[in-house]
Amino acid sequence: MRTITDIREMQSIAIQLKREGKTIGFVPTMGYLHEGHLSLLSAARKENDVTVVSIFVNPLQFGPKEDLATYPRDFERDSSLAEKEGNDYIFFPSADEMYPVTPSVTAKVQDRTDVLCGKSRPGHFDGVATVLIKLFNIVQPDKVYFGMKDAQQVAVVDGLVRDFNIPVEIVPVQTVREEDGLAKSSRNVHLLPAERDQATALHQSLKMAESAIDEGEQDPQKILARMKEFIKKNTSGEIDYIEILSYPNLKQISRLEGKIIIAMAVKFSKARLIDNAIISVKKES
Ligand code: PAF
Repeated sequence: MRTITDIREMQSIAIQLKREGKTIGFVPTMGYLHEGHLSLLSAARKENDVTVVSIFVNPLQFGPKEDLATYPRDFERDSSLAEKEGNDYIFFPSADEMYPVTPSVTAKVQDRTDVLCGKSRPGHFDGVATVLIKLFNIVQPDKVYFGMKDAQQVAVVDGLVRDFNIPVEIVPVQTVREEDGLAKSSRNVHLLPAERDQATALHQSLKMAESAIDEGEQDPQKILARMKEFIKKNTSGEIDYIEILSYPNLKQISRLEGKIIIAMAVKFSKARLIDNAIISVKKES
């Protein structure tokens, strides 16, 4: 496995690989890899000739009061995990390499951002879209792998690729969970021990909602109320949002039908956790 820190070097390797007719599978990350990332890498490994993992904590997608400075980082560990998974290249640029000057052009996401994380993190998805356009141009991937834990990100990136005619295929991969159901996340290391125990309530509340829908509940407000009560009762976290929307359009719905997403973000003392479930609501017979 090779680590590349220089944009032009990464780009010329990618161009050379394409000339040789090789397919490139790309896993963009902000590092501190966990099993979720490794499942993306393993899918990329299976479906492409060459894999590239990028590790870049993108300042553009963090708000002024967010955790850019404390975002967990451990390049040595990341690099050995990626190597064990059979990865070929790690692209690991510095912030100066990626943004040597304040960008004169950035992306503005128009749709699917006024809900969920987009609502509580203004500008976040603009930063994600901007860095991904750069990374796609540098790595020149055929397929790009994203975890469904951030389902809104997948929806936004789908729109980005469609609207900008970017010739890549987006491959969504299912969320990987701890044994007790907590979605794997780099931010989980910032949970205090008691919060770590409580954090399993996020997944439990989603399961509860799924069962209620299975049993015929059709009113999203009733489900949301039950979920909020459950989170309040079982965690010390503060609910940032719990929403039920259509998926992938992320529009408000007044009745549960079709494909929906139930998504939530809960703030613990030093970590804001997200989770979601995407459900195809069965039609009544
Ligand atoms: O999901 C992430 O880790 C980031 O948003 C991404 C896609 C690597 C862009 O910085």
